[in-house]
Amino acid sequence: MEGTKDSEDRNSPFIAIRWPALLDSGLLFPINYLGVEMTEFTYHNGELCCEEVLLAEIAQHAGTPCFVYSKRALLNAYFALDKAFAKIDHLICYSIKSNANLAVLNLLASQGAGMDIVSQGELYRALKAGVPPERIVYSGVGKSGAEIRYCLESGILSFNVESIPELAAINRMAAALGKTAPISLRVNPDVESNTHEYTSTGKKESKFGIPYDEALQAYTKAAEFENLRLIGIDMHIGSQVTQIEPFVTAFAKIADLFIQLRNEGFELEFFDIGGGLGIRYSEETPPTAAEFAEAVLPILKPLDCKIILEPGRFISGNAGILLTRVIHLKQTGVKNFAVVDAGMNDLIRPSLYNAYHQVSLVTESDSPKVKVDIVGPICETGDWLAKDRLLPKLEEGALLCVHSAGAYSFTMSSNYNGRPRGAEVLVDGDSYRIVRKAETLEDLIRGEEI
Ligand SMILES: Cc1ncc(COP(=O)(O)O)c(C=O)c1O
Repeated sequence: MEGTKDSEDRNSPFIAIRWPALLDSGLLFPINYLGVEMTEFTYHNGELCCEEVLLAEIAQHAGTPCFVYSKRALLNAYFALDKAFAKIDHLICYSIKSNANLAVLNLLASQGAGMDIVSQGELYRALKAGVPPERIVYSGVGKSGAEIRYCLESGILSFNVESIPELAAINRMAAALGKTAPISLRVNPDVESNTHEYTSTGKKESKFGIPYDEALQAYTKAAEFENLRLIGIDMHIGSQVTQIEPFVTAFAKIADLFIQLRNEGFELEFFDIGGGLGIRYSEETPPTAAEFAEAVLPILKPLDCKIILEPGRFISGNAGILLTRVIHLKQTGVKNFAVVDAGMNDLIRPSLYNAYHQVSLVTESDSPKVKVDIVGPICETGDWLAKDRLLPKLEEGALLCVHSAGAYSFTMSSNYNGRPRGAEVLVDGDSYRIVRKAETLEDLIRGEEI
């Protein structure tokens, strides 16, 4: 099959581009459109690079659409947070759901990160990537029996439990296996996080966590289960939270509860503060890791316990981009469309959340700017990546970079409309590696029977 052969060709293993003079040349300029700064994605002589690799080169080799991740950007974000919390005992449990590629997980785990998982699939990935189970916390509102068993057998650090029935289910499975399950209760602090309604999780109307007012009672109840060991408290108020105040309010409420629980005799070892720290997609001004830590450490430090963080987007969001090529240009009476080879199956955030992603040409152009909608080939009007963008007049075949696509992008992708997903590529300095092959047509029907 032609499609299969194509995909295989573009997946041939490794390529290294030697361009040692580039970093020293002083010719790397950070892109700064609308105040967005992505220092690992920079133009050199009019060509957009990831670190020291030409994105055009990657597109040619890996095909489009494809996702490109910067190792340096991933590590910089991880170290920024790690450093900001250096004054207290802490563990960063990277939230796998944001970007689950094995190479990304392995990279972060090699620096000491733990992981936050939400399914047995994510546990499987984490273990395959070499993450020690004792650094894994398991969040999620509906854990199945099989998932609970797998986590117990693997020996994870903690189950973040969201209801009494879930406590009972974990206790039953632990008893059957002759084990004791480490437990923390996820408490819903009832705090407004001012984020998209779909990613807000800390209000009492949401399905998440145990209501704040019922938490003490829930701990008392949990202590009655023989095969559970209560070791922590947990919360998560939402994702892409760009203000400090919601965190401060929520942490202060849970810290009060933590002290109360300790006074009641519960020997809690950690406070898991969740994830949610936002990033810049366009004009947002989220706190830096240092600003975040400065605001919340006065609340957390006096608790004298381990602090677990579950950042996802903060680490991976601006460490990745999506490369896509213009298939056709199309004009209607009212609009200019650039139909590209990435669709909502590859990047669903615009369709799902009305999310903004900066788009730029991989090869800079002096052509006059024209307002254009960047849309995918999928049979849905909701299949768009960017609307009403002023971009230099595009040509068929032009290569575009969709920024801030390192988080909730590939992990939310699908094969909708029979579309094999593109490759994932990890850049490290002046070389890159395909860390997930582009899918083939055979991949689309794997496991099916007539
Ligand atoms: C329980 C939990 N922890 C951590 C995260 C990671 O969030 P973020 O990627 O915004 O840091 C999420 C995502 O919503 C989550 O549900």
